[in-house]
Amino acid sequence: MIREPAPPPAATIATAPGALPLLGHLVALVRDKFDFLRTLSAHGDLVWVHIGPWRALVVTGAELSHEVLRDDRLFDKGGYLFDRIRETGGNGLVSCAHADHRRQRRLVRPSFHRDRLPGYVRVMSGQIDAVLGRWRDGEVVDVLADMKTITARTMLPGGLPADVIGRMSEDMNVVLAGVAWRSILPKGLDRVPTPANRRYRRAQDRLRALVTEVIADHRASDTDHDDLLSGLLASCGPRDGAPGLSDAEVHDQVLTFLLAGTETTANVVCWALHLVSRHPEVERRLRAEASGVLDGGDVTPDDLARLAVARNVVLETLRLYPPIFLLTRLTTRDTHLGGHALPAGTTVAYSPYAVQRRAEHFPDPDDFVPDRWDGGQEPPRGAFLAFGGGARRCVGDTFGLAEATLMLATITLRWSMRPTSDDEVRPATSLVLSPRALRLRPLAVPSGTPETLHTTGASA
Ligand code: HEM
Repeated sequence: MIREPAPPPAATIATAPGALPLLGHLVALVRDKFDFLRTLSAHGDLVWVHIGPWRALVVTGAELSHEVLRDDRLFDKGGYLFDRIRETGGNGLVSCAHADHRRQRRLVRPSFHRDRLPGYVRVMSGQIDAVLGRWRDGEVVDVLADMKTITARTMLPGGLPADVIGRMSEDMNVVLAGVAWRSILPKGLDRVPTPANRRYRRAQDRLRALVTEVIADHRASDTDHDDLLSGLLASCGPRDGAPGLSDAEVHDQVLTFLLAGTETTANVVCWALHLVSRHPEVERRLRAEASGVLDGGDVTPDDLARLAVARNVVLETLRLYPPIFLLTRLTTRDTHLGGHALPAGTTVAYSPYAVQRRAEHFPDPDDFVPDRWDGGQEPPRGAFLAFGGGARRCVGDTFGLAEATLMLATITLRWSMRPTSDDEVRPATSLVLSPRALRLRPLAVPSGTPETLHTTGASA
């Protein structure tokens, strides 16, 4: 048996300041969890956070985050958060434990094969056109709702009526916010028949029913529509003599993809549009680039590769506002981290938000500087975790990046998104980092004049 090397002696791990008797850091987290997360690194690369009777060890340093993500057998999915995610997404790829993970990942992986990307990009482009075609010059839009319509429609069959997509999107909001609350509140409270709990259960039931219906329709039509659902259902069947996913597993997987893939991409585009609306110079450069690439023909993956400014803006937005800002793991045996002994069953949390706001890897970490991504140089390992890392890294990273880049470039080419107020846009309370009530006013850009733009407006 290989023995772990004895770790160097280490000082004790600090507890984040401000813990209240019984409640722990609950009040600080509810008041402003982002401020709380940002300031954690001042207390070390590992910090204890208490929520009621529970505690989690939050990793704020890049190297230790990498160490956690590198060993997904030791730091496995589990604990309060994933128990709650499983209530909706079942044992899908996001929430399954290590023991199930490799088989599931192998089965879904082909749906993201490079060969499918041209079809996906065509569908994305069509859905972006459909939503932007409804915008009117100067008429304020609910950006998040529209972005979610696009991302949901690139996953699901294009024929789903708008009201079904709208309802689904509302249900996903309720479920994601519910999961966030439930993972910090005492367990018994979720069984009390409060209006919020009933809303949560109804939203879950409707989402499950929708997914059942969509899968049945897809199987009945037996057609590949180039959407992600077609890719997923095609890849989940038996392969090389090994059985495929069962019907229940396919159901969990589709629901997981919907929850993991639509909100994340939609939110990152919203934050990007918000940032660009306050940085006219970035807007000008985005538009100049897009006008040379998106020239009216069919968009291809090669076109996306030429949208370097848009990609940098998306990466910088993912750094500042990672849609998934805090995730947990559970240690499966006694171990050490950063020289500290951790017993089996310790909840360890990694935070893309906390790590990506550290100045040693990203100077002026709170500033929006898309050019820091120029030259394609990778940040140090563990310093950029918007897509997670290791074997559990996001399986839809290329898909999500492609879609966000195309959405941002197409919108900026045709519309100048103006802020509707100078107020700070605050994050909403949910599992996904969302801009609360973001409204922007699209002003039409005359075609063929990328340099003569609306550049007035607030600057952040
Ligand atoms: C910009 C968009 C996206 C962001 C920021 C994002 C972020 C993440 C993160 C941080 C994880 C790791 C979770 C963990 O460590 O526990 C993850 C995993 C995952 N994501 Fe994404 N995601 C995005 C888009 C997508 C899309 C488009 C899909 C599907 C179509 C998707 C499906 C998944 C799945 C299935 C996993 C679990 C992977 C595994 O454990 O093997 N994501 N994502």
